[in-house]
Amino acid sequence: MAKPRGKLAAVVHLLFCCIIALAFGVPATAAVSPAPGLAPAPAKVINATWDVEYILWAPDCQQRVMIGINGEFPGPTIRARAGDIVSVTVRNKLHTEGLVIHWHGMRQFGTPWADGTASISQCAITAGETFTYEFVADKPGTYFYHGHFGMQRAAGLYGSLIVDATEEQGEPYRKDYDGELNMLLSDWYHENVYAQSAGLDLKDKHFQWIGEPQTILINGRGQYECMLGSVSRYHGAIPTGRKAKTCDRPGSFWFWWNQPCRDVDKCERRSECGPHCPRSQCAPVVFAVEPGKTYRLRIASTTTLSALNVQVQGHELVVVEADGNHVEPFAVKDLDIYSGESYSVLLKTDKNPSSYWISVGVRGREPKTLPATALLNYTNSRSEWPTGRFASPPETPAWDDLKRSKDFTYKIKARNETNEPPPPKAYRTIVMLNTQALVGGHVKWSVNNVSLALPATPYLGAYYYGLQGSAFDASEQAPEGFPEEYDVEKPPEQNGYETKLSDRVYEVAHGAVVDVVLQNADMRRDNDSETHPWHLHGHDFWVLGYGEGRYTGKEEQLNTADPPLRNTVVVFPHGWTALRFVANNTGAWAFHCHIEPHLHMGMGAVFVEGVDRMRDLKVPRDAVMCGVVRTAAHHLSPAMPTSPSPAPAPGLAP
Ligand code: C2O
Ligand code: CU
Repeated sequence: MAKPRGKLAAVVHLLFCCIIALAFGVPATAAVSPAPGLAPAPAKVINATWDVEYILWAPDCQQRVMIGINGEFPGPTIRARAGDIVSVTVRNKLHTEGLVIHWHGMRQFGTPWADGTASISQCAITAGETFTYEFVADKPGTYFYHGHFGMQRAAGLYGSLIVDATEEQGEPYRKDYDGELNMLLSDWYHENVYAQSAGLDLKDKHFQWIGEPQTILINGRGQYECMLGSVSRYHGAIPTGRKAKTCDRPGSFWFWWNQPCRDVDKCERRSECGPHCPRSQCAPVVFAVEPGKTYRLRIASTTTLSALNVQVQGHELVVVEADGNHVEPFAVKDLDIYSGESYSVLLKTDKNPSSYWISVGVRGREPKTLPATALLNYTNSRSEWPTGRFASPPETPAWDDLKRSKDFTYKIKARNETNEPPPPKAYRTIVMLNTQALVGGHVKWSVNNVSLALPATPYLGAYYYGLQGSAFDASEQAPEGFPEEYDVEKPPEQNGYETKLSDRVYEVAHGAVVDVVLQNADMRRDNDSETHPWHLHGHDFWVLGYGEGRYTGKEEQLNTADPPLRNTVVVFPHGWTALRFVANNTGAWAFHCHIEPHLHMGMGAVFVEGVDRMRDLKVPRDAVMCGVVRTAAHHLSPAMPTSPSPAPAPGLAP
């Protein structure tokens, strides 16, 4: 009899701990910050020092090695006001690999060396070394930061970056909300990124695709193979061939029987005892909200692969921001978000004081991953968990309902009162064919039959010091289009075009208005084409339109009246997307598919802007001191000096 009694006592004790933990929401309750005040504040410097290191973490209750910042995952949230200077000193404590951090959505005017793209804007920060990113948080909005070397983003190197508007800038919906909630979405694989990238790089039949993620994470937390909500009535988007179950919950018979929290050490150290044990790293995310208010819910996605859909049970979402730009408000029941995108939605807490599920499921690929769930808890709610007809989280729309995705995407337009339409005409149009091909037995993604292979010398350093010729293939520009007779409904093999690796770039004159048309096509399989979210560094662009099939170049297909400004846009399968940007930012800027393995496999391009203005930049020496810049270091000065006796390069010792 002693044994069962001991067991019961332990359960009671641990239940108590759990109740305390949940009641105080110690690890998981998201902070609700008041709406930013209106008092004008002078620009500040936001300083941070980050140690980037390997950590053992259990984001979905399974411990793995991850890349963390200051011992945490996800990294710390940066909160700035537009105009503030963000100064982050990164110490690379990874021991065996370099790293860089990209500030996704920051345009980096005048500081292209702080964009954090390895081989493009800087050298990877060597193991053991330190580098300081300093840039202006130029624009209010919902952003994030992430690693941009190898597949370090997929390893967990990311966090939120939120920029508030100044009083002068204003935000047309600022008076409409009382508080804020922040949701950073990602997907998580149990296989480490070294195995993943090795698999992607291997030849012929050794090639290994990374497959679908194990878990979707909300603010870095998820639950592997179980859902927080009831699954009894949840049918949609439960992956085929997977038995979905509800995570053991305190108070349930199974929780009592299994005693998951028994080993407190293991629970605290490895979080492998399920989401409901004390201080689990995979504990539910709880958004505590007051009734009768309006919240601005910020949502950003830094997934490795997955396109996601977000729903808040019983609540409508009014979309007001996309990638830091105002959009004409529209109400939806759920929202699609692709990797690299961000939105703000207004959410009214005008429902019964209760608890509701937020569910985040996979779209666009046949899901093999359970939807993630988080809680929206009214502070006057009588129940901690959604009950009755709300016990099951809302179902994700059918993954293959592409029309629904398009309907949502096409609704996004610039907000009337703040619309700044694009220049009416572009001076140059670059059409980019998106395909996949075999290059010497390796599977590659390509643009116009060229797959991007990044050079050892960062382009910015090469141009700054006038070393283009020796740093990469500067003999020609990257291709501006693809053959007239290319059939986008056929795989590249059947089109008979050979794909090559290349590190060529597009040079763009300062001030040029450039149109880019992303043309999707068959990948290597016939009749198969995927959705790709393309992200441009250093700029926002206007999304002029989308279409099916091959782009015909007819101007009436384009919206120049109220196109939304964004930094990330999707191209749908077998379709095209047209965008326009102004090359007003001297530097070297990546433009790539934000799906991490696709970029790894070459799905990207580089724009180099304002070649003749490069010398006016103040590129710190240590940002670009690698590759041919390092070998030529003793006689370097910025390219094309204005006077016959060149002044020493900024940052270079005289
Ligand atoms: Cu968030 Cu180059 O990407
Ligand atoms: Cu892609």
